[in-house]
Amino acid sequence: METVLVTGAAGFIGSNLVEALLKKGNKVVGVDNFDDGLYEASFKEKNIKSVLSDKNFILYRVDIREKEALKDIFEKEKPQYIAHLAARANVRNAAKDPYPYVSINIEGTINILELSRDFNVKNLVIASSGSVYGDDPNMPWSEDHLTDKPVSPYGATKRACELLAYTYHRNHNLNITCLRYFNAYGENNRPDLVPYIWGKAILSDEEIEISGDGSRKRDYTYVGDVVDATVLALEKPLGFEIINIGNSSPVSLKELVSIFEKVSGKKANVKSRPSNSVSMESTYADISKAKKLLGWEPKMKIEKGIGRLLTWLSHR
Ligand SMILES: NC(=O)c1ccc[n+]([C@@H]2O[C@H](COP(=O)([O-])OP(=O)(O)OC[C@H]3O[C@@H](n4cnc5c(N)ncnc54)[C@H](O)[C@@H]3O)[C@@H](O)[C@H]2O)c1
Repeated sequence: METVLVTGAAGFIGSNLVEALLKKGNKVVGVDNFDDGLYEASFKEKNIKSVLSDKNFILYRVDIREKEALKDIFEKEKPQYIAHLAARANVRNAAKDPYPYVSINIEGTINILELSRDFNVKNLVIASSGSVYGDDPNMPWSEDHLTDKPVSPYGATKRACELLAYTYHRNHNLNITCLRYFNAYGENNRPDLVPYIWGKAILSDEEIEISGDGSRKRDYTYVGDVVDATVLALEKPLGFEIINIGNSSPVSLKELVSIFEKVSGKKANVKSRPSNSVSMESTYADISKAKKLLGWEPKMKIEKGIGRLLTWLSHR
């Protein structure tokens, strides 16, 4: 690969992706505005700190909604490959205040699509989400499952981006792969997510709050596996594809508590709280398409991945 532009470069998945791309010998152009709407910018400064001095990395602190500023970056850096990860995430917050989700996720993505067309980008990978499947009880979810009943406006914006992406492939022949990520966890974990919150709680002997009776399941996927899939998708233009990237092995919240206990060697102090109606009951990816088209499958066992998360948290 030549020059890869990564949007959302200072975020959880983006910062891990930047490191992996640099290790593979790419030149990486990062774009991130250190948006503090979901969590503090100081987390992102820490995520990106180790690569800032790398001569093959350049970071632009730019908002993806500012098309002219983005255009200047495309003109100067001429990226051939793009991983578009910048977005406002979090299913529950989107239900409370959908406006930034529509503006960042949809308008930001349109700017990336327009510029990818104008600058003849060879391959564009867009971060989508398993939340497009809503609460469909028919599991595991394969890519041809129903996606017109998302639970949260966040899922609706992600589906909207996939549909817009298709039109740019259809009309302008752009190579675009939308990866539907499922419940990533690991180093640089987002602090609004359960694995981070519980990991911190167990390390400092604080209470763990579990939603409802703990039977909700999540298809927790190690961030290193998510990054591997993203690199494979970048390296392989496929026309237009939508591909699930998940562990395909959901664990219930109760089971996750036990995993934290086993890995940390500590007893969790668990308190139940009412479950939230915007959350999905379960998430479960069918990953046969990822295996077939990308030759990808997850490698990390959850106990080992949670161990890595705890090690990272205890050094943070
Ligand atoms: N983490 C998951 O489990 C998960 C699951 C499904 C999909 N995704 C998607 O993967 C991508 C990365 O998610 P993440 O968990 O790393 O989230 P994150 O919030 O840690 O990373 C997103 C990054 O985008 C940046 N950003 C936000 N608005 C921006 C703007 N207007 N201009 C420029 N940069 C902006 C943020 O500052 C942040 O660093 C997102 O598109 C998210 O929707 C994540």
